[in-house]
Amino acid sequence: MSLPPTVAEPGALREQVGAWRRAGFRIAFVPTMGNLHDGHLALLRTAAQHADRVVASIFVNPLQFGPGEDFERYPRTLADDLVQLAKAPCALVFAPSERAMYPAGRAAATRVEVPGLGQVLCGKARPGHFEGVATVVAQLFNLVQPDCAVFGEKDFQQLVIIRRMARDLCFPVEIIGVPTRREPDGLAMSSRNRYLDAGERAAAPGLHAALRGAAEALGAGRRDLVALQQSGMENIRSAGLDPEYFEIRRQDDLATPADADRSLVILAAARLGRTRLIDNLPVELE
Ligand code: PAJ
Repeated sequence: MSLPPTVAEPGALREQVGAWRRAGFRIAFVPTMGNLHDGHLALLRTAAQHADRVVASIFVNPLQFGPGEDFERYPRTLADDLVQLAKAPCALVFAPSERAMYPAGRAAATRVEVPGLGQVLCGKARPGHFEGVATVVAQLFNLVQPDCAVFGEKDFQQLVIIRRMARDLCFPVEIIGVPTRREPDGLAMSSRNRYLDAGERAAAPGLHAALRGAAEALGAGRRDLVALQQSGMENIRSAGLDPEYFEIRRQDDLATPADADRSLVILAAARLGRTRLIDNLPVELE
């Protein structure tokens, strides 16, 4: 099994992608922070359906971690990730150093902000997080210059923000979303699941169960969103997690739904010990 070619320098990345582009290949891009699991691999498979060459990036982006968050302990498993990528459709891996991405240092880096969308839900608990995400994704789009880029619905708010950013900044990049991959008990796959001890791991599917409960209630015709949100919070709490938010929003712009809205998404975040988990469930009303 041969590992995919890996480049760390923006110049080497541009050279390879430029050659593919001149050869007429369509390029798909999958940005990640590594510690790859089946959720990431699903993105690569979708990417391969949309392009001739798939480029993945692995970069634990310091700009999107707040003070006291898990930047230092975030799992960095490049050697294992490359073995995983050898089994997936991936023609090139871009794994830059922090210096290559932020040559003037983190604090001095130019930022991309998506106001409003970046400040609600997860943005409330993690000020600056989505600015860090939008900034690094804009940089990566400019470096890779893909035709399309693939993101997971697991991070639904991130996906909505990237779509808005790409549109507002006129990136000629098609943004493709992929449904969340889950463990058999419903827990959404995440690199952060490895922080959970056995007891926490047993409680963790309670987050998804609460989302499913609300989705079923909506499916059965309930429209009292505030009450559904309150019971969602309570259900998470009785499953042994500490809920942060449980919200029913519009898929397109994460606004509070109006009566006529049909494409909704239920989003939740909760803490389990030192670990913060997020999950969501898109719902299409009849
Ligand atoms: P990371 O958490 O590594 O996730 C990379 C991509 O994988 C994201 O698009 C995320 O939504 C997707 N993903 C993660 N878990 C998934 C699952 N269970 N099912 C489907 N897709 C899943 O998200 C980031 O990195 C960063 O913010 C990044 C976009 C790379 C910018 O730094």
